[in-house]
Amino acid sequence: MADLDGKVIIIGGASRNLGGLLARTVGARGAKVVVHHNSDSSAAQAKDTAAAVREAGGESLVHQADLTAVAGVEGLFAAARERFGAPYAAVNTAGMVLKKPVTEVTEDEYDRMFAVNSKAAYFFLREAAKEVTDGGKIITILTSLLAAYTGLYSVYAGSKAPVEHFTRALSKELFGRNVSVNAVAPGPMDTPFFYPAETDESVAFHKSSAMNGDLTKIEDIVPWLEFLLTDGWWANGQTIFLNGGYTTR
Ligand SMILES: NC(=O)c1ccc[n+]([C@@H]2O[C@H](COP(=O)([O-])OP(=O)(O)OC[C@H]3O[C@@H](n4cnc5c(N)ncnc54)[C@H](OP(=O)(O)O)[C@@H]3O)[C@@H](O)[C@H]2O)c1
Repeated sequence: MADLDGKVIIIGGASRNLGGLLARTVGARGAKVVVHHNSDSSAAQAKDTAAAVREAGGESLVHQADLTAVAGVEGLFAAARERFGAPYAAVNTAGMVLKKPVTEVTEDEYDRMFAVNSKAAYFFLREAAKEVTDGGKIITILTSLLAAYTGLYSVYAGSKAPVEHFTRALSKELFGRNVSVNAVAPGPMDTPFFYPAETDESVAFHKSSAMNGDLTKIEDIVPWLEFLLTDGWWANGQTIFLNGGYTTR
């Protein structure tokens, strides 16, 4: 596999779960990892993740920013550049879920979901496009719900959906620089992000919809991210559904 030793990798939402495991994984391969978090409540986990990156042989920088503000996104990339130089890759895992019938979604909820899932992702892509080195990698995280015929996730899946197009458009614009830009769409993942929106019955249904009767694990997603960051560079402009067959497209 291509080398990540000394490569600067910015990870949006890296304090724990998917982003946290990716940080530790690339850190163990010698990457210089920018561990981003947003909430004060995730500061300790971001610090732990950054420490784990260093213990594994990489370097790390913790940076807090609300990525729904463009200045927050710009500040994240500026901090990375100042500390480590130009990034090789940027992966945005920031997201927010809402499960509700359309008739119950408020204006505030709609605006918040689109701010986190669409706007933050758009400007993360914009800054990544400006900052990553030629031959670099950019990855966004969507949801396998984009291939599902289902209600209740209108604003969650609906605010992730534009990011597929943003990702494809940027991949085309970066032709000539050999920067691969892709989206990964996991199935329902076994992290604390997933459960508050669900009931015991719906969790059982989600589990029954994959080939092994279980949820998607972050350990099943991170190797694909690692591959896209290295030898998988020929994938470009794609949305890769990773879900044990939960949905297909
Ligand atoms: N778990 C699932 O079932 C599932 C399935 C498919 C796709 N996904 C997607 O996978 C990604 C990672 O999810 P996860 O399960 O690993 O949960 P997670 O750790 O809770 O990831 C969500 C991240 O979004 C960040 N975030 C929220 N609001 C933000 C803001 N305003 N600015 C910047 N960052 C913000 C959070 O940071 P703070 O906590 O610091 O605010 C957190 O790191 C998300 O994009 C999610 O939509 C999840």
